[in-house]
Amino acid sequence: MARYGHFDDAHREFVITRPDTPLPWLNMLGQDDFYGICTQTAGGYSFWKDARLRRLTRYRYNNNPMDNDGRFLYIKQGKSVWNPGWKPVRCDLDAFECRHGLGYTRITGRKAGIEVEQLVFVPPDENVEIWRVTVRNVSRTTQKLSLFSFVEFCFFEALNDMTNYQRTYSIGEVEVEGSAIYHKTEYRERRNHYTLFGCTREIAGYDTSRDAFVGVHRGLHDPRAVLAGRCSNSRAHGWNPVGAHQVDLAVGPGKAETFAFVLAYVEQGDLPKFDAPFVLNKARGREVLKKYSDLSVVDGAFAALGRRWQGLLCAYQAPRVPNRHLRRMVNVWNQVQCMATFNLSRSTSGYETGIGRGMGYRDSNQDILGFVHLLPARARQRILDIASTQLSDGTCFHQYQPLTKKGNADVGGGFNDDPLWLIPSTCAYIRETGDETILSEPCGYADRPGSRETLLHHIETSMAYTLANLGPHGLPLIGHADWNDCLNLNCFSTEPNESFQVTGDIAGSKAESVMIAGLFLYAARELADLYRFLGAPADALRADGYHAGMLKTVEEQAWDGSWYTRAFDAESRPVGSKACDEGKIFIESQAWCVLGGAGAHNGRARKALEAVERHLYRPDLGCALQWPPYSTYHLELGEVSSYPPGYKENAGVFSHNNTWIQIGWTLLGDGERALGYYLSICPSAKKDHDVYRSEPYVYAQMTASQFSPTPGEAKNSWLTGTAAWSFVVASQYILGIRPEFRGLRVDPCIPRSWKGFTVQRRFRGVTYTIAVSNPRGRSKGVKTLVVDGRKVEGNVIPLAADGRTAVNVEAALGA
Ligand code: BGC
Ligand code: NOJ
Repeated sequence: MARYGHFDDAHREFVITRPDTPLPWLNMLGQDDFYGICTQTAGGYSFWKDARLRRLTRYRYNNNPMDNDGRFLYIKQGKSVWNPGWKPVRCDLDAFECRHGLGYTRITGRKAGIEVEQLVFVPPDENVEIWRVTVRNVSRTTQKLSLFSFVEFCFFEALNDMTNYQRTYSIGEVEVEGSAIYHKTEYRERRNHYTLFGCTREIAGYDTSRDAFVGVHRGLHDPRAVLAGRCSNSRAHGWNPVGAHQVDLAVGPGKAETFAFVLAYVEQGDLPKFDAPFVLNKARGREVLKKYSDLSVVDGAFAALGRRWQGLLCAYQAPRVPNRHLRRMVNVWNQVQCMATFNLSRSTSGYETGIGRGMGYRDSNQDILGFVHLLPARARQRILDIASTQLSDGTCFHQYQPLTKKGNADVGGGFNDDPLWLIPSTCAYIRETGDETILSEPCGYADRPGSRETLLHHIETSMAYTLANLGPHGLPLIGHADWNDCLNLNCFSTEPNESFQVTGDIAGSKAESVMIAGLFLYAARELADLYRFLGAPADALRADGYHAGMLKTVEEQAWDGSWYTRAFDAESRPVGSKACDEGKIFIESQAWCVLGGAGAHNGRARKALEAVERHLYRPDLGCALQWPPYSTYHLELGEVSSYPPGYKENAGVFSHNNTWIQIGWTLLGDGERALGYYLSICPSAKKDHDVYRSEPYVYAQMTASQFSPTPGEAKNSWLTGTAAWSFVVASQYILGIRPEFRGLRVDPCIPRSWKGFTVQRRFRGVTYTIAVSNPRGRSKGVKTLVVDGRKVEGNVIPLAADGRTAVNVEAALGA
């Protein structure tokens, strides 16, 4: 990793020391309504709430060069033209550094005596992105230069913007006032919002026409205006509006100039739309630019962002964990990624285009597990939003748009695991907060506008849906697919242009999923615990009954001899069985059966995990999804067999499901394996980034496995359920600090060599400082628990008395 950068743990930053990383290394800015994606070379784009419906700046995915659109600064100094972030000009720099921090990215480039720093961030609760720019003269003579800014505006609805040029080439409109560029396409008709791109310093010129600034036969690497050293004050009429400012500077030796660019999303609200025909009422935009024209306000906003993160991360800090990878991930980067997955689900990243997918039903429910400790109130609202996209028969919209919160039918449906994911997320919320009132919140069903059934009703509907849809073995019907979106047992697609995700399904199919059975076991236990907490023993017994019934079925029907079968296809033939030629063992059914409590009393849990180790695990890669990979396309299995062996769902290392196996090892008390497996997929622990290629600070969805020609190569970073689940693994199962309905459980599972560690956990308004010691070199089993000097039986810290804000806990493993 040293080749490309390193962690600066003290500052909670990742420092990239050369711009040409193996892939663009991204950061995510924003956590309320305004978001930006920013790479180490200032690539990326910005949007408000919804990357499809309110995209503010343009981005061309899969471009060549990759990542070539962004928030660029150009320096024109004499004859030389360069970017502090290296791209798009790619002129050699004397020095380059990019620091990705908590919600900000600071890029610094130096050339010929000039150093330019661009700090990009989105302040808390504001609809702006600020670029704080400092131009330093590090030479001995006065330097004259021009600095140009550049963004390309997107016409808000990103799909149309990227495909419908017969329209878009004729609708672009802008206005310019002083140093403020207003992008107002479609504002005259139905939009009541616009984008402002302003500079807080006086400008020498501007451009708003891309043809004028860049040139039709040129690229961002040789824009006409920059090469000429001046903007032409162009006004875009149609075609492609851009925002470019020219700032002329003369900086004395050792001196610096600091100012800012502001990219804002402005809603007009009930203000009059126009000052005069064709003249936008700019009152709100002026206010924004004026506010940030005071540099102390910019700096104050940046400080507020720092405080925001500091406050968030206080909810869980484990400063003295012996393993530095786990330490920095659990304390900083894993929580940062959990924030991103909570906010963006699988909608927009370097690999998700923001127009394909919205918020996923199963994805967003799982994302809550790693987020709820940060901002429980937002998790609460999200759970209710998700539940409202369930239909009254128990099925769900698989995805919904964040802006409208309406289910999106175009991306497929019928995934029979979806309904059940509402249960772990709801229980995680109540365990975190103790707030069971969420269960009686009205949130109707998507097919019954105005209906007001409660969240608890949805939960029961989900359980009932599974029970009402069982197949010939008594196992849950899979529907279109389960967690493994590519296990399309009912699809039978022969048409190459069909999407596996939306095609099918044959009517009356009997294909069953053991993974859903395991998830049902888990959900039934959660529900039983919840009902006990609510003081509803009869309902708890009913849920216990669900568990017992499904457990019997799983043990009788799904044990294959050495592991759990994965599924039964539409003809009731086993999938993931020793009887299969390929795809003999799958990871998901081992994981979920174990998490659901199968195999606990008959030794099968251990056998199943040992089989995973034997057939799927590689300490340097993680666990592949199945073995052997499918070498040919199987009509009866669908997309899973469409990928070349070793990639994605065809036996790639799919990081997400690895986390469940890690939990499995902690349930069996094996701290060595739990940590070893954790580190096998941990991005911070990856050694060779020319092989791994993706960011070292966040999880990628998938790493090519030992069965592929490129083992160890990661893809699709940032938006993956691995984020939430890895945080659950590290914080709740390895370090073992786990919220319960009536307290905080201390149940670590660590390597025997660890002498101890400390966790600070903010829980229901109280900060618990928990010192865990391991004097006898054990992996698991708290022997003594002392809370504020008093010994407590068991391993659950009781809730602190009212009025307490801090509690000290000492826990010792032992016996
Ligand atoms: C991918 C899955 C993904 C699905 C979502 C498939 O092509 O392999 O990982 O969940 O698309 O649409
Ligand atoms: C990514 C999807 O977002 C997720 O919902 C699915 O479970 C995995 N792929 C596995 O197919």
